Amino acid sequence: MDTSGFRAMRADFLSLSVKCSNVQTLTLAKPSPKPNATLTLPGDKSITHRAFLLAAMAKGRTLIVNPNLGLDTQATLRALRQLGVLVHTTSDGTLVLGREELGDPRAPIDCANSGTTMRLLLGMLAGRVDAVLNGDASLRRRPMARVTRPLNAMGARMTTRSGFPPVRVRRRASQLKPIRYTMVVASAQAKSALLLAALRATAPSTIVEPVLTRDHTERMLRAMGAKLLTTGRTIRIWPGALRALRRMRIPGDISSAIYLLCAAAATPDSILQLRDVGINPTRTAALEVLRQMGADVRIARRRDWSGEPVADLSIRGGAPLRNVTIKAALVPNLIDEIPALCALACTARGVFSVGGASELRVKESDRITTTVELLCRFGADARALADGISIRGGGELRAPTRVPTHGDHRIGLAAAILAAATRSSLTIDDSECIATSFPGFAAAWRASLAQRRSTPPS
Ligand code: S3P
Repeated sequence: MDTSGFRAMRADFLSLSVKCSNVQTLTLAKPSPKPNATLTLPGDKSITHRAFLLAAMAKGRTLIVNPNLGLDTQATLRALRQLGVLVHTTSDGTLVLGREELGDPRAPIDCANSGTTMRLLLGMLAGRVDAVLNGDASLRRRPMARVTRPLNAMGARMTTRSGFPPVRVRRRASQLKPIRYTMVVASAQAKSALLLAALRATAPSTIVEPVLTRDHTERMLRAMGAKLLTTGRTIRIWPGALRALRRMRIPGDISSAIYLLCAAAATPDSILQLRDVGINPTRTAALEVLRQMGADVRIARRRDWSGEPVADLSIRGGAPLRNVTIKAALVPNLIDEIPALCALACTARGVFSVGGASELRVKESDRITTTVELLCRFGADARALADGISIRGGGELRAPTRVPTHGDHRIGLAAAILAAATRSSLTIDDSECIATSFPGFAAAWRASLAQRRSTPPS
């Protein structure tokens, strides 16, 4: 009997099921108010990347407690291992043993979907190793010249594919030169890459930001003994070694918090409390916007963890909301929360608008297009602008049965807010990307807003 056709069919079937197993679907149960939900969130993604990288550069060992172990930060850990850094994850946290000399990775470093991994690594590796950094299809569309151009001016010899990944890094015999650089784009990732490279230059460097962006790198560097002077938007940094902080505790991720707070704001009678969330002032603009919109958000028990401010946040859902205009100067301080605010804006009275946000076009997806497309699927009156989004809120919303994420975690999370606003169960296709920043999101959703389990359909 000729079985080759059957074998070919079976092989096809197997490859199809392998492909399918990468494409998860999440069905969120119909939201219902919970009057006393209390949650602790995974660690902040931005701070975790920095903790892993700076601990790897420091003398000594660091235990990083409550790290974010989402897909992006795991890409950073894998890269460090490829460079010969010892990393060990235990139930207490992630242990990183710093090392002065890095090894050339045998294979290209796969930064997966993570812009922070690629851009910060470029700063850390400039002139030190021979390596190629690559990523998934989304990351290969994200601009890298904003990092490689100033690093090359410091003497790194990096090449890109017309400004996009893959990026080739080459070892150089002599130390990097210092730089005085006025950044064109407001980007904490680009700023951080330059700061990491400047630690190994022959003299102090000066970096000027167009707008203040998140300052986690500066805070962590100071806590680890680096010499930095910040005056307004100008940072002066001196070369020098870092001292390992033996233990670093990562605050809960304010970006993930905002998505849950928006969902609770859209759910009358819900009360949600989020413990130990990072409230670094360069990250809390979305909290201010929520308050301006009329949401009943409270901040309590303020304290400090290794130079990062932390607090408990709470919200009482159902307050009447009115829309606002977000000023361009605020955009870098709420860039990752724009899809969440837009989803909530659909439920509020009046016009919501955000401009000066063209950086959204080069995130994990073109977030101006994908956010507006998501809102329109729910029947919202939303419009894409060249550099932002405008929404006329308060109209009737209707829930679709399923939505795509376009591989962008923030779009999947924004869809959940609209599910809350429409009191509907919702199937989110290609939902695996949600774990990029928010591992355990389905459980957090269940604990905060749904009585029943959210289940992937069979
Ligand atoms: C990040 C900075 C921001 C942000 C990203 C994380 C960081 O990107 O959108 O999610 O950790 O430094 P840009 O630096 O590209 O603005």
